[in-house]
Amino acid sequence: MKHLDDKVAAVTGAGSGIGRALALHLADQGCRLALSDVSADGLAETERLLAGRARAVTTAVVDVADEAAVGAWADAVVDDHGRANLVVNNAGVALSGTVAALSTDDYRWIMGINFWGVVHGTKAFLPHLEASGEGHVVNISSVFGLTAQPLMSGYNASKYAVRGFTESLRQDLELTRSCVSATCVHPGGIKTNIARSARVDRSVAGVTGRPAEAATKDFEKSFITTPARAAEVIVEGVRKNRRRVLIGPDARVLDAIARLAPTGYQRLVTGAVRSRSGR
Ligand SMILES: NC(=O)c1ccc[n+]([C@@H]2O[C@H](COP(=O)([O-])OP(=O)(O)OC[C@H]3O[C@@H](n4cnc5c(N)ncnc54)[C@H](O)[C@@H]3O)[C@@H](O)[C@H]2O)c1
Repeated sequence: MKHLDDKVAAVTGAGSGIGRALALHLADQGCRLALSDVSADGLAETERLLAGRARAVTTAVVDVADEAAVGAWADAVVDDHGRANLVVNNAGVALSGTVAALSTDDYRWIMGINFWGVVHGTKAFLPHLEASGEGHVVNISSVFGLTAQPLMSGYNASKYAVRGFTESLRQDLELTRSCVSATCVHPGGIKTNIARSARVDRSVAGVTGRPAEAATKDFEKSFITTPARAAEVIVEGVRKNRRRVLIGPDARVLDAIARLAPTGYQRLVTGAVRSRSGR
C-alpha cells in the first residue's frame, strides 16, 4: 500500500501511546479512521486531539480479548466507512513477575489481550481487507518478541506468539496471492503508559530488591523513542511492505545481539539486571 490517502484505517488501543500517535499520523496521511480501545476516556482524548485533523473518525469501546465484540466492531467499521484497508492490532498490556509467582490466570489475561486480541483483529478484518482490493494487517509485537527478559515470561510468550502468527500469516497471504499483506512490528522502548498500567507481581521486588514503583521508573528510563516517531516508522513500514519493522536504536541493538549470541544474550541480560539490583 504505497498511498494512504483516503484509505480506511482501523486501530486498536487507540486511546493512548502508540495507538493514539498512529491515529494522529494516519490522519495526517489522509486516512479515514476507525478507532477502538477498552478505555472510553482515552478514546475521547484521542478524538479531541484529532478534531479538525482527520477526514472522518469513528470510535468504539472494544475489548480486544472479546472475539464477538471485535467481530461486531469490524462489521460496524465497514458499515460506517464503506470498506477497511488497514488494521493495526496494537492494543496491549504488560505483566511482570517470576514464573513461580505468576498464576495461570495472569498468563490467560495477557495472552487474551496481547495474543488473542491480535488473532481476533486479524480474523475479523481479513475478509473486509480482501474485499477492499488493497489491504494490510499490522500486528504489534515487541523487541521482547525477538529476545526474552527475566520476569517477563507472559509478555515474552505473547509477543513471540504475535511474531510467529504474523510471519506465518504473511506467507499464507503470499501463497494465496492475496491483495492483503502483513507486517510484524517490534518496538524498543517507547515513551507510553505501558509500564504504569502493567500488572507487577510482588516477586519482582523480591528478585530485584527494588519496590514495584521504583522498578517501573527504572524500566521507563529505557523508553527512548517517542510514540510519534514510532507511528512514522510503522507507516513507512506499511508503505514499503516490510515483513518486519524494528523501532528505535535499542531494538536494533537487541536484535543484533540476539543474532550474534542466540542463547548467550540471556547471560548478558540477567547480568545487567543483577548489577542494577546490586545482587
Ligand atoms: N511502549 C513500549 O515501550 C512498547 C514496546 C514494545 C511493544 N509495545 C507494544 O505497543 C502496543 C501499544 O502499547 P503502548 O506502549 O502504546 O501502551 P499504552 O498503555 O500507552 O497503550 C495501550 C492501549 O491499549 C489499551 N488496551 C489495554 N487493554 C485493552 C483491551 N483489552 N482491549 C482494547 N484496548 C486495550 C489501553 O487502554 C491503552 O489505550 C502494545 O501492544 C505494547 O505491547 C510497546
